[in-house]
Amino acid sequence: MFDIQEIRSQFSILDREVNGKPLVYLDNAATSQKPNSVLEVCHAYYTELNANVHRGIHTLSQLATEEMELSRRKIQKFINAEHDFEVIFTKGTTEGLNLIAYILTQKLQKDDEIIISYLEHHSNIVPWQMLCERTGAKLRVIPIDENGILQMDHFDQLLSEKTKVVSVNQVSNALGIVNPIEEIIAKTRKNTDAYVVIDGAQSAPHFNIDVQKMDCDFFVFSGHKMYAPMGTGILYGKREILEALPPFHGGGEMIATCSFEGTTYAGLPFKYEAGTPNVGGNIALGAAVDFMHKIGHTHIQNHENALLEYAQRQLLEIDGIKIYGEKANRTGVVSFNLEGVGIASDVGMILDKMGIAVRTGHHCTQPIMNFFNIAGTVRASFAVYNTFEEIDALVEGVKKAQRMLS
Ligand SMILES: Cc1ncc(COP(=O)(O)O)c(C=O)c1O
Repeated sequence: MFDIQEIRSQFSILDREVNGKPLVYLDNAATSQKPNSVLEVCHAYYTELNANVHRGIHTLSQLATEEMELSRRKIQKFINAEHDFEVIFTKGTTEGLNLIAYILTQKLQKDDEIIISYLEHHSNIVPWQMLCERTGAKLRVIPIDENGILQMDHFDQLLSEKTKVVSVNQVSNALGIVNPIEEIIAKTRKNTDAYVVIDGAQSAPHFNIDVQKMDCDFFVFSGHKMYAPMGTGILYGKREILEALPPFHGGGEMIATCSFEGTTYAGLPFKYEAGTPNVGGNIALGAAVDFMHKIGHTHIQNHENALLEYAQRQLLEIDGIKIYGEKANRTGVVSFNLEGVGIASDVGMILDKMGIAVRTGHHCTQPIMNFFNIAGTVRASFAVYNTFEEIDALVEGVKKAQRMLS
């Protein structure tokens, strides 16, 4: 049974008002709200369990370690990784992508190629540009058509023996477009021995993730976009690849032995987890996974798809609205502008006065904005607790903004 009111009752923040109006929170692609079960786990950690992990003989340290490792196993199941030590705790997608780009440095040479897509977030562009600067490799980009859909025949042409990395997102944060990663991975495997990296920041909150079936080498996502606290994230990497590659940060936790003559590194996952982790946050990420499991992925996806379909249908009735990626297969996001009426942030400010939280601007995807020749869009993005009434409020708000700004 999918009971939206019961789900909403788990999010205290949804009861608050903003500017004297009930909060309508439609900025979930930036960060989701956190259910009380996740907040309670954070609170309980700091009031009952707080201790550093892995290196303590005392009871609290052992309990904190057990809880964090239990969370790691929950996340292993959540993404269907073969081993729990393939699950590395990070601060978020950005850190995961930077980590991967850094540890691949020795694997690339001048004139090797890295393929990304036009639909990437800056955090799946800049780390690869930095890797190109370090190695002399070249960045290649899969283009999009006027609907924002990746042009896969161009991808075929880009693939060659020079391709050493293919890194794409599963879902675009700016437009919500679902990319054909199965096809991208299959073609990459068939034609190259490149590493395949999937940015799952916008898919992990919505989809059932199976990294083994997907057959990617790396999969990264952020906890805070899927009901967990800020400063949490996951990097999944295939065992044999992570074992063969060098560490990222050096420091405590990641060593086996350390002397002035040299250091040997710990095994997985600790080799990639230098320093004190966000223990409370990492445990709470496990609670967020429990929250999603309890509702069930099918329910989450069906509800969010219904919201998107409803929002798109209602918004398209407004004269002069342009939805970017309107004809593409999408999830969770509707990104639009009102033709001839000011800039996106003006619409966002009017909506905010009505208690409606949306994001405006380039959404850390300036290449997409340049492609459409715009400075930014208004982006409404959905989570499992959003309602059809909230979409109605959004549509009314957009109509009001149009009246006020034209
Ligand atoms: C597709 C995508 N990749 C990467 C990121 C970066 O995530 P974070 O800021 O949590 O590191 C985001 C955040 O919006 C995103 O949507």
